[in-house]
Amino acid sequence: MRVPVLAANWKMFKTNREALAYVREISTLARTVSGVEVVVAPPLTSLATAVEAARNTVIGIAAQNLHFEKQGAFTGEVSAAMVKEAGAGYAIIGHSERRRLFGETDQSVNRKLQAAIAANLGPIVCVGETLDEREANQTLAVLDRQVKDGLDGLTAEQVADLVIAYEPVWAIGTGKVATAAQAEEAHAHIRGRLRQWFGGDAADRCHIVYGGSVKPDNIAELIREPDVDGALVGGASLDVKGFSEIVLRSQGKA
Ligand code: PGA
Repeated sequence: MRVPVLAANWKMFKTNREALAYVREISTLARTVSGVEVVVAPPLTSLATAVEAARNTVIGIAAQNLHFEKQGAFTGEVSAAMVKEAGAGYAIIGHSERRRLFGETDQSVNRKLQAAIAANLGPIVCVGETLDEREANQTLAVLDRQVKDGLDGLTAEQVADLVIAYEPVWAIGTGKVATAAQAEEAHAHIRGRLRQWFGGDAADRCHIVYGGSVKPDNIAELIREPDVDGALVGGASLDVKGFSEIVLRSQGKA
């Protein structure tokens, strides 16, 4: 059984002080919920603060990005080991904003994935098609390429422990959520490929979460789908009450 994962991707929002208040509040809520895993991805400047505030709670903390090299002259970057030492348990990798605005490719995503795994971080790796690709009926082919190249070289055991976030680019921050049927089609397709390429156990254990305009009023419908194992929430995660509501409405699926 896959316990739903609900992850808050704050992007470039919240100061350290705001992060502290948020994580304290969500930690209190998390004591009262069961059957869900809750992850918060703050900006790097608040990583250690969030880790400290989440200590002895079930909240996991994620970095939003990392560099694939162990160290070096890469101004402005941080390595997987640095993020791990700051206390993060997870790392978001290959978010569409990183691909679109910062030139990330399936190949760099693959290297980052390998670096995260080597540092013992749980990767949350993002895939998803653009509107043009969907309208040209290329959605499944794009997902195939992103999953095949992104996960290249991983073992079945490593794939089993992954969280893959299916995030159609046209649904991110636009208020246009994929329908539950559209999400399920993509998730089931990805799981089918995982079965084909990495075996049944990896496919059954790997979490595939949905991202793109998830809100308190659409999570219940999405989470009901058999292959939707949670959500990566951007805009609606910034308000702790809204994100709490999303967590509450995802309980009990497992
Ligand atoms: P959104 O972002 O919920 O604001 O659409 C999701 C994401 O980018 O992970």
